[in-house]
Amino acid sequence: MSLHWRPCFFFLVFLKLSISISKSVIPQFPCQSPHHNSYPFCNKSLSVPARAHSLISLLTLQEKILQLSDNASGIPRLGIPPYEWWSESLHGIATNGPGVSFGSGPVFSATGFPQVIVSAAAFNRTLWFLIGSAVAIEARAMYNVGQAGLTFWAPNINIFRDPRWGRGQETPGEDPMVASAYAIEYVKGFQGGNWKVGGGGRGNDRYGFGEKRVLREVDDGLMLSACCKHFTAYDLEKWGNFSRYSFNAVVTEQDLEDTYQPPFRSCIQQGKASCLMCSYNQVNGVPACAREDILTKARTEWGFEGYIVSDCDAVATIFEYQNYTKSPEDAVAIAFKAGMYIVPYSIELVYNLYQ
Ligand SMILES: *[C@@H]1O[C@H](CO)[C@@H](O)[C@H](O)[C@H]1NC(C)=O
Ligand SMILES: *[C@@H]1O[C@H](CO)[C@@H](O)[C@H](O)[C@H]1NC(C)=O
Ligand SMILES: *[C@@H]1O[C@H](CO)[C@@H](O)[C@H](O)[C@H]1NC(C)=O
Ligand SMILES: *[C@@H]1O[C@H](CO)[C@@H](O)[C@H](O)[C@H]1NC(C)=O
Ligand SMILES: *[C@@H]1O[C@H](CO)[C@@H](O)[C@H](O)[C@H]1NC(C)=O
Repeated sequence: MSLHWRPCFFFLVFLKLSISISKSVIPQFPCQSPHHNSYPFCNKSLSVPARAHSLISLLTLQEKILQLSDNASGIPRLGIPPYEWWSESLHGIATNGPGVSFGSGPVFSATGFPQVIVSAAAFNRTLWFLIGSAVAIEARAMYNVGQAGLTFWAPNINIFRDPRWGRGQETPGEDPMVASAYAIEYVKGFQGGNWKVGGGGRGNDRYGFGEKRVLREVDDGLMLSACCKHFTAYDLEKWGNFSRYSFNAVVTEQDLEDTYQPPFRSCIQQGKASCLMCSYNQVNGVPACAREDILTKARTEWGFEGYIVSDCDAVATIFEYQNYTKSPEDAVAIAFKAGMYIVPYSIELVYNLYQ
């Protein structure tokens, strides 16, 4: 009996071992030596715009198109690994984005902070900053071992005025001033801003996390990227016959300026967020991701320099649910022309546009 049992046991151990090996992710980074570290975009003494320009100049049209979805393809000939833009971290690193994978490497869990509406009720800016920082430290560690991305789609700073929305707990609440302050602190803490203030030395810096927070290679580098979402007047999920996919938010110019936009303006101007996410809904009859005027204003008046991503299939819904364009390809085109960069979910549409 033991003769049969032993091989079986070893087989099981082997199976378990090989499953856990095949499951664990191997972190992949660009610019690896010996073959892929000599491109100008790998040269850390060049400016970020120069490096970006170098990278783009090396890509073919086909390769550029493959970068337009949330799951961007790798470019093996340049040593660039695939990248998943979509990671989530509203109140801790979350599993509802494909960029995060717990248990596929050494990290099995992360800290879950209270729902944002509860933290917001503390009315304590230091606390919000520290939560953003703490989440970011864990997130960056997970990126370093290949279990998360660098681009996180938080905070949610839509104004929560109507309990029928159903997602109020994700937000700092109903008050534009509190939501603005929350946006600034979360984004600064999360993106690693201000960590050099106070000398950056241990015991010398404001919050005592020490020097390790700073990405030293690049002076203006971000530790991670935060995203102000959902831009804008996105305050209804599903109620009665209304759904977020086709809801037309009718907002007066004054209400837009006084209520819905201030958190976004602060998130960008003072928080220096590197991402904006346009929402599913329409704003006064035009899909938010096609509101060129509003997206442009963020850049020209608020100084936004980051990337604009659509909410998951917000571009597809421009055609499918809103019938705003004659074809799905027109929906993609109108959003790109308005200033959006990345279309999660809808890579097929982008391909069709190319063909
Ligand atoms: C990186 O860029 C700097 C500044 O232009 C240049 O002096 C240096 O030679 C470059 N390094 C490599 C490895 O190309
Ligand atoms: C991205 O995801 C879509 C939808 O799941 C899939 O069709 C596509 O092949 C993926 N692309 C890459 C590069 O992984
Ligand atoms: C605000 O939060 C910080 C960090 O948790 C804490 O040290 C401070 O005491 C809080 N301030 C108030 C007034 O509770
Ligand atoms: C939803 O639509 C149905 C059918 O048109 C209508 O009878 C109903 O009153 C609507 N409900 C709401 C809440 O608007
Ligand atoms: C969009 O058009 C389809 C048919 O092509 C129709 O079923 C649907 O009700 C329309 N949706 C809207 C929001 O008009």
